[in-house]
Amino acid sequence: MNIQWYPGHMTKAKRAMQEDLKLIDLIIEIVDARIPYSSRNPDIDELGKNKARLILLNKSDLASETWNEAWAKWFLQQGFYVVKVNSKSGAGLKQIHSVVQEACKEKIERDRKRGIINRPVRAMVVGIPNVGKSTFINSFAGKACTKTGNKPGVTKGNQWIRLNKSLELLDTPGILWPRFENQEVGKRLAFIGSINDEILNKEELALDLLKFMMAQYPQVLKERYGILEGSEGTQEQVLAKGMEQIAKSRQCLLKGNEYDYKKAANLFIDDYRSGRLGRITLEFPKEKDEA
Ligand code: G4P
Repeated sequence: MNIQWYPGHMTKAKRAMQEDLKLIDLIIEIVDARIPYSSRNPDIDELGKNKARLILLNKSDLASETWNEAWAKWFLQQGFYVVKVNSKSGAGLKQIHSVVQEACKEKIERDRKRGIINRPVRAMVVGIPNVGKSTFINSFAGKACTKTGNKPGVTKGNQWIRLNKSLELLDTPGILWPRFENQEVGKRLAFIGSINDEILNKEELALDLLKFMMAQYPQVLKERYGILEGSEGTQEQVLAKGMEQIAKSRQCLLKGNEYDYKKAANLFIDDYRSGRLGRITLEFPKEKDEA
């Protein structure tokens, strides 16, 4: 399976973003906490090199807390501000305001020296599709926020969402293209559901996920499907046996009592994506440093 994605409007999107960047102080970049590296846009560091940077580890409820901490630390070491959030429940969102002030303290100080007091920090929210941008903006900005409309001197059509006296968000779709540097990254994006399922071979994807889970989270497989460790045979045989066990435990049967592997694959992937397998992080900062 060769996962590919051809961003037709990439150049146009990049140009639009460069224009928008002139208007803001801070980039709020949303990543999926299960794949904080693979869910980042590959060009964002270059595009945003002169801006304050805040990474939101979103969907932190679906990723392992230990690894959330490790990733937060890793990003901090790279010079980003980081907040772990769950945009669905709202957990962690309150913390953002103080971190934004901290991330933009130099700008605030510069303003103060020039006699500009209380000019709000202007931020832009970006992320690849499906990381939770809309959910985040809805819960963070809420219904109470006011759209300030066009301002003189600002490109026509730009809307600002005023959160409070000290923070405004530029209302752009903020949708960026994902990384496609190798098949591992593509697979991880597929595992979390960020690639159109119609172009995926779900049975192959399920086997890849099973391989990862057997290596990293065998206990989860045992508890949920009764897959035992230490099965004999080649890797292919072990994986086939594992899929059979998933089909068996979830009663995925065709007529004539044959196993329905397609159904089992879909159930397994769905169990992962929905968090029913627990909090599972798919990539780790250590391997990133080794890359
Ligand atoms: P996007 O704008 O970046 O494309 O993403 P969007 O907000 O549409 O969110 C994509 C999916 O991720 C949605 O699920 C949303 O509910 C879910 N989501 C967003 N943030 C979080 C989070 O912090 N934790 C968890 N667990 N889920 C989150 P969906 O299945 O497409 O919709 P729905 O069934 O939840 O309504």
